[in-house]
Amino acid sequence: MAADVPAALGLLREGTLTVHGRLTDASNAVLYCTAELDGVTAPCVYKPVAGERPLWDFPDGNLAGREVAAYEVSAATGWALIPPTVLRDGPHGPGMVQLWVEPDPDAPELLDLQDPAGPAAGWLPIVRAEIEGGRTALLVHRDDGRLRRLAVLDAVINNADRKGGHWIPAADGRLYGIDHGVTFNVEDKLRTLLWGWAERPLPEDAREVLGRLAGDLAGPLGERLAPHLTPAELAATGARVAALLAAGRHPLPSPDWPSIPWPPL
Ligand SMILES: Nc1ncnc2c1ncn2[C@@H]1O[C@H](COP(=O)(O)OP(=O)(O)OP(=O)(O)O)[C@@H](O)[C@H]1O
Ligand SMILES: [Mg+2]
Repeated sequence: MAADVPAALGLLREGTLTVHGRLTDASNAVLYCTAELDGVTAPCVYKPVAGERPLWDFPDGNLAGREVAAYEVSAATGWALIPPTVLRDGPHGPGMVQLWVEPDPDAPELLDLQDPAGPAAGWLPIVRAEIEGGRTALLVHRDDGRLRRLAVLDAVINNADRKGGHWIPAADGRLYGIDHGVTFNVEDKLRTLLWGWAERPLPEDAREVLGRLAGDLAGPLGERLAPHLTPAELAATGARVAALLAAGRHPLPSPDWPSIPWPPL
């Protein structure tokens, strides 16, 4: 997928969309589709704006645009953490269309519940939680470089919903983030499971990428984001990047906002 992003974007933008079904457990309308162009077909999801459930803390009718904005930031990092995503018209009106990622059923688990005395080697703590029988367990995620990049991306886009179902390990060994409708708020709404690196120094490659983003946001990336965000949200994105660079560390949870999605999956 990562190898032919321009072709995927063309297919998603220009291809004929056919709806095959609805993902029933989703809170918004999420339609499983195929896009077909010049004999090439690819599975995708289509989330029509008309199917967006209104939220108290985000303006109506532009979650789809936020998904595209999140994709643009991911693409600008060079880390390709979000599958190609476009805004286009479809059978149920304008919406976002994103390439489908087939989950790898053999991929190792990235979350676990462990003994509260833990975590085990190779795992990082998220939070202690009460489980059945009144026992306490430690919720942990793997100390995985792909998750760490996702944590940096989420800090930039201010992702309010990075639960465990919102990353998909693909058969090519890559990890893809999905569901970025609640992002880019001007308030700190970072809600994620990926707190294992909180306050730790950012890795060198993350600092390099953030430095690049700072310039890009003031230029071509900013222009690509502008149709989807308010000027204040665009400015806040630049401010988050600047704050991350100045601190040189992964962020801490906000005291004013539930920082862990619950249930975690
Ligand atoms: N690009 C994708 N590739 C593969 N599966 C996807 C993709 N996008 C969404 N899905 C599947 O569809 C489900 C619902 O999508 P999504 O989480 O984006 O919608 P939602 O309405 O916000 O749902 P929820 O409120 O349950 O989080 C996901 O949990 C995932 O299983
Ligand atoms: Mg979801």
